[in-house]
Amino acid sequence: MGGFVIFTIMKKQPIAVFDSGYGGLTVLKEIVALLPAYDYLYLGDNGRAPYGPRSFDEVYRYTLEAVTWLFSQGCPLVILACNTASAKALRTIQQNDLSKFGDNKRVLGVIRPTAEVIGKFSKSGHVGVLGTQGTINSGSYMLEIAKYFPELIVSQQACPMWVPLIENDEYDKPGADYFVNKNIEALLLADDKIDSILLGCTHYPLLINKIKEAVPEGVGVIEQGHIVASSLANYLQRHPELADQCSRDRNRAFFTTGDNENFDSHAGQFFGQAVKSTHLQL
Ligand code: DGL
Repeated sequence: MGGFVIFTIMKKQPIAVFDSGYGGLTVLKEIVALLPAYDYLYLGDNGRAPYGPRSFDEVYRYTLEAVTWLFSQGCPLVILACNTASAKALRTIQQNDLSKFGDNKRVLGVIRPTAEVIGKFSKSGHVGVLGTQGTINSGSYMLEIAKYFPELIVSQQACPMWVPLIENDEYDKPGADYFVNKNIEALLLADDKIDSILLGCTHYPLLINKIKEAVPEGVGVIEQGHIVASSLANYLQRHPELADQCSRDRNRAFFTTGDNENFDSHAGQFFGQAVKSTHLQL
């Protein structure tokens, strides 16, 4: 008796990129620049941002809700383009929840790919990490960096006012200078041999001009977008079966849990081009 061969034709779907708000757009911008052919679906949880001061449980629940929705849209791969969500929710989602969505779903974060390369930016062997209160308190960067660069001396500094300044459109106003200078000074006071500072929050590139003015000469500032983009390109190359599930029609779709007109008027500054979003109630 002849056997049956069952072919399942799987519809290809966009790669999803998630952040608590606008910050992930700085990552998506670099991903699109490197991998323009793929379709992307962006979700910003602006209605509940910032995540930085929220508890582990809240960040986990909110991130899981977002991931659940993104998988329900058929996305095969979700990038948590948010350090706070990567620090507080990624591992639990990977270990406890991912299998419920089927065999072929993947969730990736931004901390591991950054930790894998950070040591290459430093000559002195001393680096600084700036992030939200949540990311810094989680100790995730210390742990991850120690796996790849055990000799590297890492100092961290939380910048609790930076995301609120950015989400409220104050990032290029004079008031932001005070908070930028204050947190960078505190970081360099902890270790004056730091020669490279990581922006460990995807919102922070919006403050890049003020940050560069605040750091002394010879100290480099590392943005994550291009690091995450090349790590994703590498991942898709190593996982052709996953890459094959991702559609490639150069579509970009944007969703926000906040007000969509407000989102559209700010998102361009993060993404580098105009954005038309849809409101989503999670
Ligand atoms: N963009 C997020 C990150 O990379 C954090 C923003 C927030 O506090 O919501 O950590």
